Amino acid sequence: MADTSKPTTNTKLATWVDEMTALCKPDEVVWADGSQEEYDRLCQLMVDGGAYVRLNPEKRPNSYLARSHPSDVGRVEDRTFICSTNKEDAGPTNNWAPPDEMRRTLTGLFDGCMRGRTMYVIPFSMGPLGSPIAKIGIQITDSAYVVTNMRIMTRMGKAVLDTLGEDGFFIPCMHSVGAPLEPGQTDVAWPCEADINRKYIVHFPQTYEIWSYGSGYGGNALLGKKCLALRIASVMARDEGWLAEHMLIMGLEAPDGERTYLGAAFPSACGKTNLAMLVPPDAFDGWQVRTVGDDIAWIKRLPDGEIRAINPEAGFFGVAPGTNEKTNPNAMATITANCIFTNTALTDDGDVWWEGMTEEPPAHLIDWKGLDWTPDCGRPAAHPNARFTAPAHQCPSIDPEWENPDGVPISAFVFGGRMSQDMPLVYQAFNWGHGVYLGATMGSEATAAAIGQTATRRDPMAMLPFCGYNMADYFTHWLNFGRLAANPPRIFRVNWFRKDENGKFIWPGFGENMRVLKWVVDRVHGRGYAVESPIGWMPRHEDMDWEGLDFPADKFYELMAVGRAAGTSEAHAHEAQFDKFFDRLPKEFIFERELLRSRLWRSPERWALAHEDTVRQPVS
Ligand code: OXD
Ligand code: MN
Repeated sequence: MADTSKPTTNTKLATWVDEMTALCKPDEVVWADGSQEEYDRLCQLMVDGGAYVRLNPEKRPNSYLARSHPSDVGRVEDRTFICSTNKEDAGPTNNWAPPDEMRRTLTGLFDGCMRGRTMYVIPFSMGPLGSPIAKIGIQITDSAYVVTNMRIMTRMGKAVLDTLGEDGFFIPCMHSVGAPLEPGQTDVAWPCEADINRKYIVHFPQTYEIWSYGSGYGGNALLGKKCLALRIASVMARDEGWLAEHMLIMGLEAPDGERTYLGAAFPSACGKTNLAMLVPPDAFDGWQVRTVGDDIAWIKRLPDGEIRAINPEAGFFGVAPGTNEKTNPNAMATITANCIFTNTALTDDGDVWWEGMTEEPPAHLIDWKGLDWTPDCGRPAAHPNARFTAPAHQCPSIDPEWENPDGVPISAFVFGGRMSQDMPLVYQAFNWGHGVYLGATMGSEATAAAIGQTATRRDPMAMLPFCGYNMADYFTHWLNFGRLAANPPRIFRVNWFRKDENGKFIWPGFGENMRVLKWVVDRVHGRGYAVESPIGWMPRHEDMDWEGLDFPADKFYELMAVGRAAGTSEAHAHEAQFDKFFDRLPKEFIFERELLRSRLWRSPERWALAHEDTVRQPVS
């Protein structure tokens, strides 16, 4: 008999919710319908509980500031697990635990974990509802912060249940902040599990399941994002022959209307949101940059071999500090209303502020912990990982095609880390296999705070924390994906962060990155010039558009130079990076490395493009 107490006819879903209710023992169960009324009510509940502050409606209409517990401020990679039956299937870059043992641990933790709380059931779609590329997830959570943020970040609510129907497939996403209330116990503003060793972000790749316990923040708790759309989706993508990537998607529209879309992967904190919303320099009059997504791309090969991608998300969960009218005017325009800010500072007139938002900080603020703040107090006003949760449709540069259920056609992939030395501004892979190698060996510098030095962290395709299976198998999957495409996207490496001998950035970045993207577009369409270097195809100074920017050739060649010694030690580092994959590593990578070594061996000590005898190569 149909269970009329639930707004679904999907028996599997109804049974799962009953089982989870019996396990978690909440006071009540609420199915989120995704309505504005529900959103407003839950935000009010959060205001009453002390975690949300309603912002001044004159300054920031319908927006809130959330303050998390100071111990719950970011993703917890050490507590993130991939629980496949065999350890080798999780691979050397993931934390692994035996699935049976982990299930026992989780059952113990979740037993009674929602006592005294409301259990919300959130139906959500990653991707436009009904898109052949989209997937449905159901998140169970005891956090109203999660419900309100998921309403911005995903297509959420009743319409999803209608699409799911009686026997549609969904990914179960179980979440609790891990703070049950005893009878009579008063709640805190931001409940969570204080003991880091009792936080668990767990993925069961063989059954496509997610279990998250103990944290209420960001990627730990909004399970559609990193857990579903990357870790579990990467496994589904392997199983089903597509790609789930940590990539922004942007479209570049030329003055004649030609539109070229690309996917670009950068490690966290390399400015993906800024690039996705780039405003071209004045000299690029008539060019439009269109944003499809700023963090995740789901990429499919159609039966005719065409590659198309969707952004599975419906909002931006962007890093606030550093965002301003110069670095990202489109983001600033996106966040003027209907947003949730987490861990930013609060101004005296009820608005938000963060480091870098204005040149001069306000004379007084309430900081992210709720304490008085003045510019001389020696503490940051906003947490460095403070975020805005903003609806994507509010972005002035949003692409008219961003909700096309069939996605947008992808012509290029761009990989870029943060490298202060030796890595040129831009170059193009010789072919698909070489391009996959470039993505797989991508490194980015992270400052090791303790020693104040920079260390290169290898972050293949920017997926190191997000690949839900053995990374060597993921490389093989990438190689196969392009092999079967009719016209595989061209692959490029970029680096905005090279420094001169005085430690200053050589490249101005931000809007000027458009010049690099224009060369990428030209190459994709077979009309851009390049010369062959030991590491890939490179533009010469005259192959780039310098209109409106005085960037002399010698400075450009400083930015583009390839050192034989540095290149060789880079190739050596690839060997160390890949050793841990043993025989799972695709053989192609060994040959790519040796080719790189040999090309460098035969090249001048410092290879720069200024050779007069270099031949222009109109090859794409
Ligand atoms: C993010 C990340 O939050 O990559 O997007 O860490
Ligand atoms: Mn990201």
